[in-house]
Amino acid sequence: MRKFNIENTKSSYNIAVVGATGMVGRTMLQVLHEYEIPINNLYLFASSKSAGTKIQFIDKEITILELDKGSFIDKEIDIALFSAGGEISRAYAQLAVDSGAVVIDNSSYYRQESDIPLIVPEVNIDSLPIYKQRGIIANPNCSTIQAVVVLKPLAQKYGLKRVIYSTYQAVSGAGVGGINDLENTLAGRAHTKFLYPIANNCIPQIDSFLDTGYTKEEQKLIDETKKILNLYDLGVTATAVRVPVMNGHSESINIELEKPFDIEEIRELLRNSAGILVHDDIAQSIYPMPLMISGKDSVSVGRIRKDFSNPACINLFVCADNIRKGAASNAVQIARALINYNRREI
Ligand SMILES: NC(=O)c1ccc[n+]([C@@H]2O[C@H](COP(=O)([O-])OP(=O)(O)OC[C@H]3O[C@@H](n4cnc5c(N)ncnc54)[C@H](OP(=O)(O)O)[C@@H]3O)[C@@H](O)[C@H]2O)c1
Repeated sequence: MRKFNIENTKSSYNIAVVGATGMVGRTMLQVLHEYEIPINNLYLFASSKSAGTKIQFIDKEITILELDKGSFIDKEIDIALFSAGGEISRAYAQLAVDSGAVVIDNSSYYRQESDIPLIVPEVNIDSLPIYKQRGIIANPNCSTIQAVVVLKPLAQKYGLKRVIYSTYQAVSGAGVGGINDLENTLAGRAHTKFLYPIANNCIPQIDSFLDTGYTKEEQKLIDETKKILNLYDLGVTATAVRVPVMNGHSESINIELEKPFDIEEIRELLRNSAGILVHDDIAQSIYPMPLMISGKDSVSVGRIRKDFSNPACINLFVCADNIRKGAASNAVQIARALINYNRREI
């Protein structure tokens, strides 16, 4: 099996961020700093549009480099965080791996390949060593990440039979263009990113439609949930909706459990599970909302209640910061786990 640069003994690491000027890329830089990832050299890549501009990282100004076929040569990059869309991952991720880097890919391009792990650290970090096969680790879709953090403890304790998602997704999920569309349409200006004005509207289409009548976003939620939980027979269906919220995705989830449950016991289980904050006190009108979770890495869950139309089912509501836990923080948490894993192995 091949050896990656990260597997050599070292105390700090060469990190690359591809798509460093984007919503997710910029947040990755912030999270790398917050998590005190030991960095030797930091290489920032974007398109020709941004090449030559500078980004502040802690006390240094780093010049953005244009991504090209030679970008990874002779740099001894340990970890390359990709966040520039599927086409860039398709064209460049393998080149980074060929140079000895491990790629953590934020796009959907590799997520369903069986020899590429799709990781949410609180849920399936045991799949991490699969990275040795291809040198690529996929970071799941933002809506999937926040859902599986909550589904995993329920799956372990009660077993899962069926999951029904209805999402309310923020415009930041569509990158800088999504934010601009909300600001512009709120001010009465034209929209360029979404098909319709997003101000005062809800758009039940995220990504393009498949022949089945589902959108690609909905299909990602379905397929990624099964892969991450390793429950390929789980019934999953989804409706994904873009809403005029700047940041923070919300999801109403109906869950059919296999074993009998008690609602207070479920609250307690979720309170004691990694990465989760329970905000569930209806007497005080406390429940998850995008505004209260924006800027944080935890998933907020509340409105936990019985579904009286089916005694095996519960309803709950989940919110998370889609740019942080839904993308940048999850990717950096994977990077941190990869570093720790290789330090233990040395
Ligand atoms: N936003 C979310 O909530 C979210 C969540 C999960 C996953 N993701 C995924 O993360 C990725 C980035 O999303 P984002 O929201 O950060 O998008 P974004 O704000 O539009 O940023 C896109 C980034 O890609 C770079 N890029 C574009 N074309 C390039 C090229 N030809 N060569 C090199 N770099 C290029 C851009 O550089 P320039 O500035 O030079 O154009 C920019 O840095 C996408 O794969 C997206 O699906 C996003």
